[in-house]
Amino acid sequence: MIDLIKRLPKAELHLHIEGSLEPELMFRLAKKNNVEIPYESIEDVRNAYNFTNLQTFLDIYYAGANVLINKDDFYDLTWEYILKCVENNIIHTEIFFDPQTHTSRGIPFETVITGIKEALADAKEKYGITSCIIMCFLRHLSQQEAFETLEQSFRFKEDIIGVGLDSSELGNPPSKFEAVFKKAKEEGFKLVAHAGEEADFTYIYEALDLLAIDRIDHGVQSIKSPELMKRLKEEQMPLTVCPNSNIELKVFQTYKEHNIKELLDYGLNISVNSDDPAYFKGYINQNFINLCENLPITEGDIVTLVKNSFKSSFIDNDLKNEYLAKVDEAI
Ligand code: ADE
Ligand code: ZN
Repeated sequence: MIDLIKRLPKAELHLHIEGSLEPELMFRLAKKNNVEIPYESIEDVRNAYNFTNLQTFLDIYYAGANVLINKDDFYDLTWEYILKCVENNIIHTEIFFDPQTHTSRGIPFETVITGIKEALADAKEKYGITSCIIMCFLRHLSQQEAFETLEQSFRFKEDIIGVGLDSSELGNPPSKFEAVFKKAKEEGFKLVAHAGEEADFTYIYEALDLLAIDRIDHGVQSIKSPELMKRLKEEQMPLTVCPNSNIELKVFQTYKEHNIKELLDYGLNISVNSDDPAYFKGYINQNFINLCENLPITEGDIVTLVKNSFKSSFIDNDLKNEYLAKVDEAI
């Protein structure tokens, strides 16, 4: 099974680039940029990664992002993730970034997007890895602030394929962002949203009906509504599930309680993703391996999950078919 996981080329559809900041790079950048971080050592950092829910993670994650200042920092951050893609056999990746985490600290939008973009261009040239960039609105901030971020993105429209919605879910339902998602759709952006990660399945209905999203990020709470499950299956709406993340953030108390196998067996369009791999103990292959070690996942399931990742990506059909053929070849 482990050999199959490693051998299969994969797409990653749910990856926050700020969540790929490894402690070693955090320390290097803190020193270079003279930014104080509340840790004495790398070991100290890893010990702090002991979360009880989404918010306890987000507090630490936003503090870590403070070390990112210059274009080169965003380049290095992205390049390190690309090296992990090579290790994990990820041949296509659709990465999230959170512009407001940086613009609120006075870092220009352009600095962030340019650093990320240049690393992704080099990834294509050096390794043939293809990619898209999705800009997420922070849902704990206002819709007005999301509108301002959307405006800032217009200059970089050819670099950004879609918009997403992340950060503190509870108390910040998709309905809060209905107007800005409508505007983003009119502007031609693809739409995704975190929904049903910690909050209940009504958030998934809102994301579908009010935001008109193309993919759901997480969505694991859908299992509580048979009616929603039926709809997700009929529409083959993609759910980008992140198993390690769900365990680390205590959405499920243990791996054995994770519902991904049930969602998959029901016929939903599920993919496996790493979310914030530097914080959640592993990149995509480790997520697959943990699933196999804890749940009755079959080789057929792994192939389905991997094929779903390509089918649900935002690449054109020709490239999708080329990548799906590569998967078949690897099998
Ligand atoms: N930002 C980074 N990771 C996130 C997650 N798992 N949920 C919501 N917002 C996030
Ligand atoms: Zn996420």
